[in-house]
Amino acid sequence: MRVVCISAECEPWAKTGGLGDVVDALTRAVGARGPGGQEVEAGIPHTVQSQVWVGTGAVMGVGDIAYADHVERPVDLFLPKYRGLEAPAGATSRSLTVPDPLAESGVTEVTIVEFEARGYRVRLVDHPPAFDRPGYYGDENGDYPDNGWRFGLLCRAALEALLVDGRPVDVLHLHDWQAMPAVVLRDCAYDAYPLIARAAVMATIHNLAYQGWLTRDQAAGLAFPEELKRVMKPHADGILLLREGIDRAELVNTVSPGYAQEALTPAFGMGLDPALAGLGHRFGGILNGLDMTVWDPATDADLPANYSRSDMAGKAVCRRALLTELGFDPNGDGPVLSMIGRLDPQKGFDLLAGAAPELVAAGARIVVLGSGDPKRIAGMREIATQHPESVAIVEAFDRALARRIYAGADLYLMPSRFEPCGQGQMISLRYGTPAVVRRTGGLADTIVDVREWPGEGTGFLFDTSSPKALATVCRRAMEYYRRGGEEWTALQDRGMAIDWSWEAGPAEQYAASYRRAVSLRRDS
Ligand code: GLC
Repeated sequence: MRVVCISAECEPWAKTGGLGDVVDALTRAVGARGPGGQEVEAGIPHTVQSQVWVGTGAVMGVGDIAYADHVERPVDLFLPKYRGLEAPAGATSRSLTVPDPLAESGVTEVTIVEFEARGYRVRLVDHPPAFDRPGYYGDENGDYPDNGWRFGLLCRAALEALLVDGRPVDVLHLHDWQAMPAVVLRDCAYDAYPLIARAAVMATIHNLAYQGWLTRDQAAGLAFPEELKRVMKPHADGILLLREGIDRAELVNTVSPGYAQEALTPAFGMGLDPALAGLGHRFGGILNGLDMTVWDPATDADLPANYSRSDMAGKAVCRRALLTELGFDPNGDGPVLSMIGRLDPQKGFDLLAGAAPELVAAGARIVVLGSGDPKRIAGMREIATQHPESVAIVEAFDRALARRIYAGADLYLMPSRFEPCGQGQMISLRYGTPAVVRRTGGLADTIVDVREWPGEGTGFLFDTSSPKALATVCRRAMEYYRRGGEEWTALQDRGMAIDWSWEAGPAEQYAASYRRAVSLRRDS
């Protein structure tokens, strides 16, 4: 089974958030299951229990599907060659003529830069007018108005490169709206090309908040007028790329079972809940994994000291070093609360700003690392100015500092309003830092409240999206930390013991879903 992924982000080449990490780890993990990879035996029926296809609310495994077909290696991943993205030595380049509705001649030359790395084959689409820009999606004026053309070009270039390969594609795995032009094009521009037309599409939604709206004019960058007529509904004033993906893909999933259930409700569906509900059992949730080798306090080269479940001494070293680095008193015993993320309303930085005065008065030290919309952090900045000895705000995208915070903090906060999966809570647990999270989406699927489940808990949950509720749960967590002793170390240890790895579950669930998508396509 030949699987081809298309994404706007992939670590370590392009990342603004969890999407980049997940696409990298997922692509590697599904490829590692193929011949020459791990574990899979041909033809053995396998029951998948933890995958949930929600549909009308029923829960359905896909266990009756026999594993007749392996994912072929290497899996291909198409990604834009953004500004600053350097291909490694040994990469090959070839030029490719791609249909382009905005070009006078109807075609544009792009370069496909290819290399194998991290267990899959990266195929960068290099076209400077589209991708050599300051931002991936936009700049200080907002989204680039020609994103339909830019990501349409990414997808067209991918499909054209696949035609040149001359080998049939079984599954196109599309991540988020930027990749959805590929399924639109499959259906309206490449339906006469069996190599592409036969491909089943698996569309993964990492966040329903980003849907890729194109006005009628902007949609002209996506497809030629004739093609557009086939896509655009009469009287519609534009195209919603994510919606096109939902309507056309064989299977649609989001990145946790909990968020998949929520997505079917008006409160979380962001207007797409009816479309998702209409898919029935073709919509579901697969919980993201975590690359346990990329995130490992025992080997993390960015930490001042390494540690593991059997020897936790290094965590105290990391804590002292972090406090010193932030200008806090390294000898103070105030619990260190941390939060890392995109500065976006989703993440709830404003809730922390509202809770911070009470928490600081109760002796907390708070560190926030974030990049994105500076307005989101204005409240916190004010508090940091008043309390430089106990509140630090770092407005940056700093991979190494993020690691030092996961390791050096006592508690990790994710007060998200909604959270498709979330990665910080898994990383923090792996680094021995219990998480304080709102009971929503992937957070509710991954963190067990220690008050509700004393012998199994890995963190602290709260329900109401308010500063008060956040302050209350944080104070509970701080008390727990202050009591210390066996109870605290057991809480840390349970979190560190969890195997979040892709290989332990999600990779297999994706592989099974690919097979299901292929059979749905065959039957269509
Ligand atoms: C998006 C979601 C986040 C998820 C990530 C990777 O960034 O907001 O919850 O963990 O995608 O799937």
